[in-house]
Amino acid sequence: MNKTRIVVIGSGAVGSTTAFTLMLRNRADELVLIDANHSKAVGDALDMNHGIPFLGATKLWAGTYEDCKGADIIIITAGAAQREGEPRTDLLKRNVSIMESIITEVLKYNTDGILLLASNPVDVMSYYAWRKSGWPVNRVIGSGTLLDSARFRYLIGNHLGIDPRSVHAHIVGEHGDSELPVWSLANVAGTALQIDESDKAELFANTRDAAYQIISAKGATYYAIALALDRICTAILRDEGAVLNVSTLLEGYHGISDVYLGVPCIVDRNGVREILKLDLSEEEQALLQRSADKLKGLNDSITI
Ligand code: LAC
Repeated sequence: MNKTRIVVIGSGAVGSTTAFTLMLRNRADELVLIDANHSKAVGDALDMNHGIPFLGATKLWAGTYEDCKGADIIIITAGAAQREGEPRTDLLKRNVSIMESIITEVLKYNTDGILLLASNPVDVMSYYAWRKSGWPVNRVIGSGTLLDSARFRYLIGNHLGIDPRSVHAHIVGEHGDSELPVWSLANVAGTALQIDESDKAELFANTRDAAYQIISAKGATYYAIALALDRICTAILRDEGAVLNVSTLLEGYHGISDVYLGVPCIVDRNGVREILKLDLSEEEQALLQRSADKLKGLNDSITI
């Protein structure tokens, strides 16, 4: 029988929490943790394995890049993390060189899996990983604005007293400061939201700035991003065709091309099957263009 394997590269706060979340949810037969600090991965694997008697039979270990062989999904969380008040884009230079060595190692052992990136700035890192790997674009996916959209739905749901799962609302663009809310299409059961403009502005600001708030309070974010990554893995491994706001390459999307951005995508066993074109208002289109221009500038600032 073919066993499903997910490799998590980077056993920092995001990577270890992601592995733990995948384990709790029985997401794969085999989970491998890889970290430049192997001892950290060994410690995390031991700690998690001692929970196996309470859960079931996931095989989890601290591995090497060789374990990427045959992996269905390789999640990359490694890299420098944001410090308090620091935008994600400040991590660019530090994380590109880390990403370069990771992609080079992965390619030695795997050429047909799916790369799922969470390292920031995630849209730039995903574009870089796609170019560097030479893999088809459907198999190189960034976590994009899936987490931001979850934050947005949570905050709107709280505001309205409605379960966030019943709130349909999208954050698109950069996973970062230039992202935008698609208010024109936000709805509950197809019904436009009854929220006044000043509340809308506050709901969006709290969504966009959520990571700053969390980092200022406790130094890092990791629980919700772990669940977002698990959600993407589920859509892939179960061939769901789920619509998720992940980061993917845009080609002629509202006139935007050659940049990775978070937009609603249909995700299945092959990764991103299709991008859904949102019927954006003129203002939203202009904001998306601005976000794309910012990311293109960052993409151009690194050599691949
Ligand atoms: C956040 C980090 C993962 O938004 O970028 O929480």
